[in-house]
Amino acid sequence: LGLGAGAQAESGWPTKPITILVPAAAGGPTDTVARLIAESMTRTLGQTVLVENQGGAGGTLGMGRIARTPADGYTLAIWHIAHATAPALYDTLKYDPVADFDHVGRITDVPMTIVSKAALPPTSIGALIEWMKANKATASFGHAGVGSAAHLCSLLFMSEVGVQLAPVAYRGTGPAMNDLLGGQIDLLCDQTTNTTNHIREGRIKGYAVTTKARVSSLPDLPTLDETALRGFEVSAWHAMWAPRGLPKEAIDKLVPALQTALRDPKVIERFASLGTEPVPLDQATPAALKAQLVAEVEKWGKVIRAAGVKGN
Ligand code: MLT
Repeated sequence: LGLGAGAQAESGWPTKPITILVPAAAGGPTDTVARLIAESMTRTLGQTVLVENQGGAGGTLGMGRIARTPADGYTLAIWHIAHATAPALYDTLKYDPVADFDHVGRITDVPMTIVSKAALPPTSIGALIEWMKANKATASFGHAGVGSAAHLCSLLFMSEVGVQLAPVAYRGTGPAMNDLLGGQIDLLCDQTTNTTNHIREGRIKGYAVTTKARVSSLPDLPTLDETALRGFEVSAWHAMWAPRGLPKEAIDKLVPALQTALRDPKVIERFASLGTEPVPLDQATPAALKAQLVAEVEKWGKVIRAAGVKGN
């Protein structure tokens, strides 16, 4: 990388490459977000920022590793709403999602989409719901591990519809999407960063978006709220965390570098083409992230306990 000499001239952290861990398999929506942020931070920090994937157990394997990593600023994580749902799903969780991490900042709220394999007969969300009820004995619904955004969305969607299809777990929605494209599974709820291009090119079918507002990159997809399920709302919010106790010189460079990425025209353009946008900077701060995480742990804890779902 031809890094700017100016970036190298400054002394102190970072003096070597930085790793962002994505606790989901490569090729999924979190990976897409992380690689765009990493590319921008490489330019800003003058050191290579790499992305590494470790899927499994709805992201709790990877986040558990971060909680046990030395807080030197060279190992970070980008994850999403699943960081908030882990305590309610995994009784044996070995970390506290709030207390055991430094909260570097929020990144984006990604809308989700209800999608099917291309060959599924229904041609509207209403017809899909009827199809699910008629085929509940044989239909399958993929997800990315208990507690993943895809899993939470499918849980809420099926409980609102009043039908339970066979769940098929993957180490991320990258691999889940591969099976949907191949017709091995029938349905998936996944983020627009992973579904937009496949829907546009007819490789999968889109039925509805899970946010209250329609998504500009998929204007023909109605929202669940305006059609079948009034009030339904799920989005996969993404953020950056680090092991608790980062040195001040690291956090003082990391927070502005992340916020620079949120203003990076290339990040904004790629996010827009994938149906999402960076969060406003005043909502991207460490304090804003910590406050949102605390609120989400509380909110989803109630939803998950009411649904009687467990991860382990
Ligand atoms: C991913 O693959 O990025 C995530 O596992 C997606 C999800 O949590 O649904």
